Amino acid sequence: MNLVDVFADPAAIAAAAVDRIEAALAAAEASPTLGVATGSSPGAVYELLRAKHREGTFSLDGVSAVALDEYRGLPAAHEQRYRTVLRRELVGAARTGLREEDLHVPDADAVDPETAAVHFEGRITALGGVDLQLLGLGANGHIGFNEPGTGFDARTHLTTLEDSTRRANARFFHGDLSQVPQYAMTQGLATILEAREIVLIAVGAEKAEAVRAMLHGPVTADCPASVLQRHPRVSVLLDEAAASVLDEQ
Ligand code: F6R
Repeated sequence: MNLVDVFADPAAIAAAAVDRIEAALAAAEASPTLGVATGSSPGAVYELLRAKHREGTFSLDGVSAVALDEYRGLPAAHEQRYRTVLRRELVGAARTGLREEDLHVPDADAVDPETAAVHFEGRITALGGVDLQLLGLGANGHIGFNEPGTGFDARTHLTTLEDSTRRANARFFHGDLSQVPQYAMTQGLATILEAREIVLIAVGAEKAEAVRAMLHGPVTADCPASVLQRHPRVSVLLDEAAASVLDEQ
């Protein structure tokens, strides 16, 4: 873990994240691969990437994008399926130039999830690994959907979402908890740690305790994000609320 920065607002966080993304894609030796997250944290980043694409200064054309996770059990056309969300945010010339065929999302609805997970891992390997992985942070310390208790050696797998995670995500389902899936397929912690660079974004007071545990707590499965302390190249981009208990060391 080598950089923790606190910003005034999500737009400033996005500008810093986009700087990192541009540098990582430019430095990639082969054809670049960007790891993408969903949820609200990366929203301003994707907005800025679209704005830069509109003005002709940025493109994901020729870049591969690898999703962190995907819900299991949502209808194919559901607006909150992460493939659908990422398409809406990034795919096409009208957005960031990312090509549909270059967006890779775990097949969470596979009849045989174990084979699908192995296939997804193989896809990442075939792409040459992830150059930069964007992450959000769960209030319970999860990254991807690796909930507390997940082993550090976990690779892509099907997981059960904690009730607190489902409650937090109900806002994407019109507040209706019963609509939030119970299962998801996620990159494992070992998979995430193999990204050459990681940029984690956390915004809001509800993330403050998880930020503190991630940065200054013991490396423990109780806070899955604490494993990032073992990664050599992580930028943690926070707003003041998410950083608000860091001073209380
Ligand atoms: C999303 C993901 C999750 C979220 C986390 C924070 O792909 O893997 O780990 O990043 O739940 O969500 P938000 O950003 O909505 O607060």
